[in-house]
Amino acid sequence: PVIVKASQLVSEVQPTMWGVFFEDINLGADGGIYAELIKNRSFEFSKPMMGWQVTQDFFDEGALQVINRLDKNTANPRFLRITKKAADSKLAITNEGFRGMGIKKGLRYDFSFMYRQTAAGIGLSLELLNNEGKTIGTATVSATAVGDGWQKAAVSFQSTDSASKGRLRVNITGSGSMDVDMISMFPSDTWKGRPGGLRADMVQKLADMKPGFIRFPGGCIVEGFDLSQRYQWKNTIGPIEERQLIINRWNFEFPHRSTPDYFQTFGLGFFEYFQLCDDIGATALPILNCGMACQFNTAELVPLDQLDPYIQDALDLIEFANGDVNTVWGKKRAEMGHAAPFHLKMMGVGNENWGPQYLERLQLFTKAIKAKYPDFKIIASSGTDPEGKRFDFLNTELRKMNADVIDEHYYRSPSWFLSNAGRYDNYPRDGAKIFGGEYAGHSDKVVDGKKQNNWQAALAEAAFMTGLERNAAVVHMASYAPLFAHSEGWQWTPDLIWVNNLQSYGTPSYYVQQLYSLNKGTHVVPALLNGEAIKGQDSLYASAVVDKNAKEIIIKLVNASVRPVLKDIVIEAAKLDKNAELTVLGSEELWTVNTFSSPEAVSPKTSQITVSAGNKLSFTAAPYSFSVIKLKMK
Ligand code: AHR
Repeated sequence: PVIVKASQLVSEVQPTMWGVFFEDINLGADGGIYAELIKNRSFEFSKPMMGWQVTQDFFDEGALQVINRLDKNTANPRFLRITKKAADSKLAITNEGFRGMGIKKGLRYDFSFMYRQTAAGIGLSLELLNNEGKTIGTATVSATAVGDGWQKAAVSFQSTDSASKGRLRVNITGSGSMDVDMISMFPSDTWKGRPGGLRADMVQKLADMKPGFIRFPGGCIVEGFDLSQRYQWKNTIGPIEERQLIINRWNFEFPHRSTPDYFQTFGLGFFEYFQLCDDIGATALPILNCGMACQFNTAELVPLDQLDPYIQDALDLIEFANGDVNTVWGKKRAEMGHAAPFHLKMMGVGNENWGPQYLERLQLFTKAIKAKYPDFKIIASSGTDPEGKRFDFLNTELRKMNADVIDEHYYRSPSWFLSNAGRYDNYPRDGAKIFGGEYAGHSDKVVDGKKQNNWQAALAEAAFMTGLERNAAVVHMASYAPLFAHSEGWQWTPDLIWVNNLQSYGTPSYYVQQLYSLNKGTHVVPALLNGEAIKGQDSLYASAVVDKNAKEIIIKLVNASVRPVLKDIVIEAAKLDKNAELTVLGSEELWTVNTFSSPEAVSPKTSQITVSAGNKLSFTAAPYSFSVIKLKMK
């Protein structure tokens, strides 16, 4: 039988154990969770009118001019100058959205823009268009203030129908001249109804996982192709019109686009990331650039004697998150609406950086941060090649440095995940801890050019994760990556959650992540077969935890074979309620996927089971299944 030694607490399970890794890849933020519907709202994309189509009934070259006021406003240099000579002429700009706009019937849409004019005369008349170009919502905006300064005007209106690929036509009425900028439209059903906020269905998917942490903002976007394009958190806070956008380094989505149209506007910036963590009870894990650009592309480095501004960014970030309102950065947080601290406890320095150059930079960051905040945890990066020399070198050196936590990434085949379920069984228990910061099973099955997010991959991840859980003494955090992907703008597959403009669904891997996170327990206890950890014998993989607060024993068991496996499970040293709960995730077919039309083809099914005398369960693990058995202690 499988023996679960319920009173033998092996180690604690960290509250941060299972989390999520957020990156603006695959239209994850702009065009995704950040609910802005207007693409290129401030004319700052490399082609200033990208996303906008101009229509006019007669050719007037000077009617629309993009002006660059670089010397006066470096964060948002461009605006659109409209000069309309005749009131009865037609002039309109139509925004295509990010792969169209998802519009919901009867929902309120909040439009706003900034303008400046010396005399009133021009007005805006809005038309929301459906996929066929039919009008499904109208409004007029009154913009009558005059003067040198910028004003904001807004109007809200309801759509009369739904559209998966809507557009917004902005008709320019009247005559005269007006400068416009920050043309914006949000649905009113954002997460928590926050104006200018996040797409609620996508946040809900995260909230439903109850993640222990959110790692943000990436990934490679932290590094940038070169340092000028690295993520700089200070450019992502404050009024949105002052957040300087940059091109997103993930512009190679399928189908390939001849002109990059993926930018980071930072409407979802560091304040909003902290707020999101707060909302869903996740620990914040920001990652900062360590003074190195992406080494897969360039090896642009900041010389060590010029690293101070980078280190200062890290120190200031801690103050932004935790400082009181009398500190420079704490005050900025309070001005954005959060006077209470965010209680930041950890940060990552560098992403997938390597070599002695990384170690030198990490050491300088560590010294400065720990000098000021001795208990602050620093996550060091060790890259993507868990069997490579570079990886071994870094891990050895990082352990010598006594790094707090090492971030390992593994994008591997399902068979790798199965054979690595014991990866941390012999890892030293002292010193550096592990963050499985990015991982995903990459199935061999490819359909229409996409590696499938199928049950084969998810099952292998579930098996591997029994090993992470069993080794919670050293594995303190883990997260799947990438998190989100838009069906019409993705970099690579697989990804955890798929969205289009109106819908989202979790892949089988999503449900694996969720089951672990919702059943993380407080302490690991042994789950043994013939006295050994269960990591492939009879195609079974298993781990067990107790939850001391909920008084539960939770057993996770993967059957990776095509056959049912019958096993008695005996729970030692516990008084159990005879009613127990069994949740099974699975499919007899390894290639099963979830889709927009069948989002729950692979999803958890819960039933009641009975514990027999002697704390015994006669259990049949279904073919290709992941079972979570929850027992109540008396
Ligand atoms: O998850 C996508 C990318 O994969 C991340 O940005 C990077 O860290 C990894 O290589």
